[in-house]
Amino acid sequence: MPLDYTTLARTIASLTEAETDAVALMATVTCEVFHADDRFDWVGFYRVTAPGLLKIGPYQGGHGCLQIPFGKGVCGVAAQSGAVQLVPDVEAFPGHIACASSTRSELVLPVRDAAGKIIAVFDLDSDRPDAFTQADVTGLAEILDATFAR
Ligand code: SME
Repeated sequence: MPLDYTTLARTIASLTEAETDAVALMATVTCEVFHADDRFDWVGFYRVTAPGLLKIGPYQGGHGCLQIPFGKGVCGVAAQSGAVQLVPDVEAFPGHIACASSTRSELVLPVRDAAGKIIAVFDLDSDRPDAFTQADVTGLAEILDATFAR
């Protein structure tokens, strides 16, 4: 069954309604998304902590690398370009950073605040090849927008 993003968005909205702290919001989004679908083996945020630098934020799954410069790996390309990166085969992505050798596909979305500034990226990894769809991109982008750009 495809993930029900309407229900997931409602759950996250009600859990985070009165919260404004970015890390508390990221931790809650990570937990809810990670547990929503067996396709997801690693879910978490990399935050923009200095110009051109991402540092790991709340996540679930095995350990992730602590820092990623803009332009490096799937996360760094998403942060630098501001464009969603849907990677059906991580081995075909030049410069992919392998945190777990089991990862086969990956989806990274930029996270913007209410002013449109990129504050983080949201990274999902799957051990299955070609695990992510346009429905994931749309559903997750709506959740990120409703949570961080309000
Ligand atoms: N694969 C990512 C690095 C982060 S880990 O997957 C948790 C990348 O290439 O940016």
